Amino acid sequence: MSKAIQEESVVSVRHWTDDLFSFSTTRDPAFRFLNGQFTMIGLTVENKPLLRAYSMTSANYEDHLEFFSIKVQNGPLTSRLQHIREGDRLLVSQKPTGTLVQDSLIPGRNLYLFSTGTGIAPFCSIIKDPEVYERFEKIVLVHGCRRVADLAYGELVVAQTLDHELIGEIVRPKLLYYPTTTREAYRNTGRITDLVEAGKLFEDLGVTSLDQAHDRVMLCGSPMMLTDCVEMLKQRGFEEGSQSKPAQFVIEKAFVEK
Ligand code: A2P
Repeated sequence: MSKAIQEESVVSVRHWTDDLFSFSTTRDPAFRFLNGQFTMIGLTVENKPLLRAYSMTSANYEDHLEFFSIKVQNGPLTSRLQHIREGDRLLVSQKPTGTLVQDSLIPGRNLYLFSTGTGIAPFCSIIKDPEVYERFEKIVLVHGCRRVADLAYGELVVAQTLDHELIGEIVRPKLLYYPTTTREAYRNTGRITDLVEAGKLFEDLGVTSLDQAHDRVMLCGSPMMLTDCVEMLKQRGFEEGSQSKPAQFVIEKAFVEK
């Protein structure tokens, strides 16, 4: 029987900014998850496991696990985790969970994935899921960050997904990617909420405005971002779904207290 917490080995680490890094590890083949879910991962500190919730950015068919993290200088875990190197051990709980799963949404036309900061992590996994392209006509990934450099990890994952030798062909006609910054000049600027309210997002992408009759939404970001997006969706008649009662949107907090 496999253990509740598995030890994996770090395969690669990449630092994106002073505040952001990503890393991949080996994967126990018995570890199963749904794309979009998270699990508890961490390090042994003073002989005890120190674990925090992290979404897998890798898809459930990949043979490694990948994660995207902020670095909190005095954070109990990330102050240590940011120094991990190839070959180090990482603890991975074998019990994944999470609300950003496709079965919590009723069928629809377009799927919007609205994220800020490290909230893009679960969507990196979802955009690699062939099933999502069977269920929806367009997948619209929106990533809002303060600065251009904060977008880099998401940009790479999107580029790799579009180029993927097996799924690239089904992804290319359906995936729309809209990165936007708020504190630096860029080709798209403004908060997600403002871009939706002003209709700019839909104009730029050439799609019709959000409609609860046929659009579905997944949200992942800071508590304030979630509050504002949920209010915006509810005003448009969207209801929150769950696995027992699927509806038009689902939300998850980006895990930042690390
Ligand atoms: P802003 O720069 O205007 O605060 P953070 O790093 O604070 O989590 O922010 C990540 C991104 O999310 C930033 O672009 C930020 O914009 C944006 N953001 C913060 N709060 C909200 C909100 N309530 N609704 C939409 N976007 C938000």
